[in-house]
Amino acid sequence: MPRKDSGWWDDFFPAFRPFFGLISQKRTNAHVRFIVEKLSLKPGKKFLDCPCGIGRIALPLAKKGIRVTGVDITRSYLDELSMKAKRRGLKVDLVHADMRRITFGSEFDAGGNLWTSFGFFEKESDNRLVLKKMYQALKPGGKFMLHVINRDWIMANYQPRGWEEAAGVKSMEERFFDYRTSINYGTWHIIKDGKEETFKLTIRMYSFHELIAMFESVGFTDIEGYGSMKDEPISRDKGMMTIIGTKPRRG
Ligand SMILES: C[S@@+](CC[C@H](N)C(=O)[O-])C[C@H]1O[C@@H](n2cnc3c(N)ncnc32)[C@H](O)[C@@H]1O
Repeated sequence: MPRKDSGWWDDFFPAFRPFFGLISQKRTNAHVRFIVEKLSLKPGKKFLDCPCGIGRIALPLAKKGIRVTGVDITRSYLDELSMKAKRRGLKVDLVHADMRRITFGSEFDAGGNLWTSFGFFEKESDNRLVLKKMYQALKPGGKFMLHVINRDWIMANYQPRGWEEAAGVKSMEERFFDYRTSINYGTWHIIKDGKEETFKLTIRMYSFHELIAMFESVGFTDIEGYGSMKDEPISRDKGMMTIIGTKPRRG
């Protein structure tokens, strides 16, 4: 019988590992600067990175003295992060868990769900649950940052196929967009060492106004939106968007 929380992510993400290389160190450094500034992170503050992947953001934040907890479902990513942290003399607390099942309560000054790690579940209540769990994890006054693809950009630029290559590994994605649910059904073909593996992904795409409504429904206030990870407005020309919500101090 499959594990209760099993899904496409179980097999896909281990194979996806080389594609982290698509984000340059320069871009990651800019992301880190934006996160630190917008979430008012300072040495000693507690940050929940969920999901954390291989520590792209968690490690540079830990280097700045921020107390980072990373959550991820992909065991090999957590092993890699743990090894890198050890080698660099950094401390990152790691939790192997599904992002819908985290149980932190009012512990973190800030949290992030970064680089298109949201909307993975076909049931909308599960996607909302991820937001709710992040909300519960924050201290009153804490801030949460979501960094996702902008559905309005996708609609203006939709391509039924896409190709990528990183570290000698190739991918081809065939896409089908369901307009009734705003779920993109992707079939990824990953070709490594002449061998091809196929994965089926579902990602719910959101427009800014839908995320405002979802943020508000779990309790966030003072919702801000930015195009990509920059001080610029969201528009249909921005492929990514960053939404920040605050857990109110009272209520
Ligand atoms: C595109 S990566 C982004 C990682 C990281 N946030 C970053 O910015 O580099 C998406 C991450 O989501 C994780 N993931 C996928 N499904 C998950 C789930 N159900 N629960 C927790 N993590 C999950 C994957 O293992 C992967 O590390």
